[in-house]
Amino acid sequence: MAERVFCVDFGTFYTKVALRSAPQEAGALVPCSDEGLDFWAPTVVSADWTRGEARLEFGHRAADAKPGGKVVVYSNFKRELFAPPPAQGPDLHPIDALLRSEEFEALAAKHGVLPAWVAGLRSLTTSARTLFGTPDASPGGAAARRQEEAKRLTYHYFKWLRECVLKACERLPHTALNYKDIPLRITVPLFGPIETLAQHPGCVRLRDALASAGWPLADPLFVSEPEANAVGILTKAVNALTVRTKKINFREMFNRGPLITVLAGDAHHPTYRALVIDVGTFTSDFAALGIDTCGKEIDTSNGAGFGVTQQSIAFGISDLDATVRAALPEEKRAALNGMARKDFAAFQVSTYSAETGYRIGPGKVIGGSADRPVVESCLSAFCTRLTDETAAFLQQLGPASMQELILTGGGSNIPAVREALIKAAAATPGAAFVKTHAPGLKKVKAGPPVDPLDDKFARGATALGGASLYFEREYF
Ligand SMILES: Nc1ncnc2c1ncn2[C@@H]1O[C@H](COP(=O)(O)OP(=O)(O)OP(=O)(O)O)[C@@H](O)[C@H]1O
Ligand SMILES: [Mg+2]
Repeated sequence: MAERVFCVDFGTFYTKVALRSAPQEAGALVPCSDEGLDFWAPTVVSADWTRGEARLEFGHRAADAKPGGKVVVYSNFKRELFAPPPAQGPDLHPIDALLRSEEFEALAAKHGVLPAWVAGLRSLTTSARTLFGTPDASPGGAAARRQEEAKRLTYHYFKWLRECVLKACERLPHTALNYKDIPLRITVPLFGPIETLAQHPGCVRLRDALASAGWPLADPLFVSEPEANAVGILTKAVNALTVRTKKINFREMFNRGPLITVLAGDAHHPTYRALVIDVGTFTSDFAALGIDTCGKEIDTSNGAGFGVTQQSIAFGISDLDATVRAALPEEKRAALNGMARKDFAAFQVSTYSAETGYRIGPGKVIGGSADRPVVESCLSAFCTRLTDETAAFLQQLGPASMQELILTGGGSNIPAVREALIKAAAATPGAAFVKTHAPGLKKVKAGPPVDPLDDKFARGATALGGASLYFEREYF
């Protein structure tokens, strides 16, 4: 039984860490960056080969590194871990892929290398590989190599993260705690039934990567991102035990907002549901937590629980980024590809939310007024797909007499995305939402109540919820 736990929300773009330092303590976000400035660390590793061997940097420092020359920046390794098996088809050896690439042909042309010489070079390398044998060149080989690399990067990243977290904990007031012994839990996307979460190949690879990163592992090690997020928001990270039984006290933990009315037994509102949608980088997560009291006050003190419907889909802000990249002129696409991760994040905010675009030099702006039609059309297609996915998720839910809508994740910071989701969710079976929680919401005169979520919950709820007593079955 984990009395205390660290929960890492291993986000594709940003990693967030929460700590529950005792069973009944509220979860708290840990400033897991070198500088301790904020509670998220970019999920990035950079390798600088200038001195012959790789010098690795992580988090904010890696996010400052520009890819190119002898610097390689890895910023997609969570996605690689969870990537589905590659589509069927011949898979090229990296040397063949390089020699057949458009970039290589362009480079050859630039240096006056004739196409016939390029063809000769291709057949030369093919013969050389046949001569010396190339175990890697099988179909699926490139994907397998990427996943092995993702495992190695994850191992290094978690080793670094652990050092940062332990350093940050030295600054916390509980001096008597031995933070080194506190186990690790991780939130992960849910691509199938919840019962099979830990068997997903991505979780198997993640567990392998963590085996020697130094962190003791909690049981369960994995909890799902959608459910953890919903729990973090609804409990606001509060944990509570019933004094007499030392068991989880659901009533105190979930005793916030409209849910109180339903739990107290209200004939007009026998059923409650929270619909939580998180738009992340790699996935969008849907969770519906519902409770049916039949209109009577129910004893929730010892864990009379919620029914949970939940799902992640492999569609997020990185898909929007990809369509915008592809639609921009070549020069701007190249500029985006050569950017440090920190600058790319600034480009996202200024292009998708502020609509000003991102300045890359005197008179040069990406995503500004010249690119507006392109960006708007990509955003609109992105919102349409999200709306369709929301509708498909809602179809499986029955009616509820009281509902709340909660929007989280970096994607919910984008006004167009938020508005599309609010509109799509309005089609949920049952009563209209009594309250909507989302970042950046403004109260409308005579409109329904709104809760403008701050960063702590809009971005940190998954880590906070994953550290909740809710996931410690021994306390039920
Ligand atoms: N105001 C904003 N405008 C535009 N984009 C934003 C804004 N705020 C955050 N983002 C972007 O939203 C994306 C999602 O952020 P988030 O932290 O939710 O992803 P994640 O948790 O790392 O991903 P996942 O959960 O899919 O693994 C990031 O690419 C981030 O840069
Ligand atoms: Mg996330």
